[in-house]
Amino acid sequence: VDKVVVVGVEEVAGVGEPGVRSLSTAPEGYTGACPNYRQPAELGCFSLDSQRTFHDDGRLLRYFAPPRGWQGPIDLDVGWSVPGAYIQMDAQRAERLDHIVSWLSRHRSQGGGNWGYFVTWRGHLTKVLGTPYERREGWQLAATLFRGTRYMSEVETEAARREREMRSLRQKQMCYWGYKFEQYMTADRPGGEPDVSRPVNTNEGFCTVVRTRLAGHSLVFAGEVDCRAGERPPPSSYVELKTSREVVTPGQRFKLMKWWAQSFLIGVPRIVVGFRDDSGHVQHLQTYETLKIPKMSEEKMWNAAVSLNFCEAFLSFLKEVVTRDDPKVVYLFSWEPGADVTYRVYENSEQTFLPDWYIEQFRD
Ligand code: A3P
Ligand code: MG
Ligand code: MG
Repeated sequence: VDKVVVVGVEEVAGVGEPGVRSLSTAPEGYTGACPNYRQPAELGCFSLDSQRTFHDDGRLLRYFAPPRGWQGPIDLDVGWSVPGAYIQMDAQRAERLDHIVSWLSRHRSQGGGNWGYFVTWRGHLTKVLGTPYERREGWQLAATLFRGTRYMSEVETEAARREREMRSLRQKQMCYWGYKFEQYMTADRPGGEPDVSRPVNTNEGFCTVVRTRLAGHSLVFAGEVDCRAGERPPPSSYVELKTSREVVTPGQRFKLMKWWAQSFLIGVPRIVVGFRDDSGHVQHLQTYETLKIPKMSEEKMWNAAVSLNFCEAFLSFLKEVVTRDDPKVVYLFSWEPGADVTYRVYENSEQTFLPDWYIEQFRD
């Protein structure tokens, strides 16, 4: 049973902690100059194999291998109805930051043992960047301070769990198409040919670990990378792959912004999109330069500076709130569209997420 130590403003005020107890997410509060974001530098990489086992190397890295000359539509539905052709990662298994701290524990000497102030998944930061504009999906982020570093790990909301469990066959099919597209566009070695006869296995992934800085905040995070093209040093040589319906629906508002946030954060300069029809046939490919996306928004409905200013404010809020240096103390930040970010503090609860073996390593 979770032991809730602090709930809301009043109880905290009594123990003399600093002032700010919630954080507004309204875009109006975050206009103004874009904060400085340092070009991400790759510290290393790791791979997750078909069983979701961690490997301290880049064995799962794929290489960009687009079709040579356009030979007509790409059929993403190939294999969809074949038994065993779609192996999905076990969504019940909460991996939290386990793979990231596995990597960190093996590379502690890199960066002088100082991992900066925040350690997290890139995908969590993508959600933070989208928050001022998001109207549908809330989030929960657990944060813990351990030896001067703040670790942030997402906790699935009830609504997200329900949505995942209710996902229609059609939605699953469209996810399959997204992964099949990756197979069509990549090979296992430079200059190789794609092999689309293999099953899609969503356990597999190659992740880069980068270090960067947003205004005054040092960040170390990992993110999955779809493939590499060319010889430039990573992450500049990485390519993000996406599929999109030819005709974007109102429900896909800010899709381009989400693509931008995901790739910008981790320094991936190019996004290759396969535009598909409703039968899963890619009719054309288009390359977007990540850095040019913010200027493409004709409606000016979103602003990259707002996203980054909000992220900066959120990290400052975390620094102010997450102050007890103890891996058994977890601050759970919650946000629902239309509301402020609030938090609760849990001690010795099932919210604890840094693995014991990791904590043990620091005992000296
Ligand atoms: P698309 O990119 O074509 O949408 P990513 O693009 O981040 O590399 O993810 C690869 C694929 O995973 C996506 O293809 C999509 O099919 C699936 N995917 C990504 N995020 C998802 C999510 N939150 N829920 C369900 N499927 C997701
Ligand atoms: Mg991917
Ligand atoms: Mg992708």
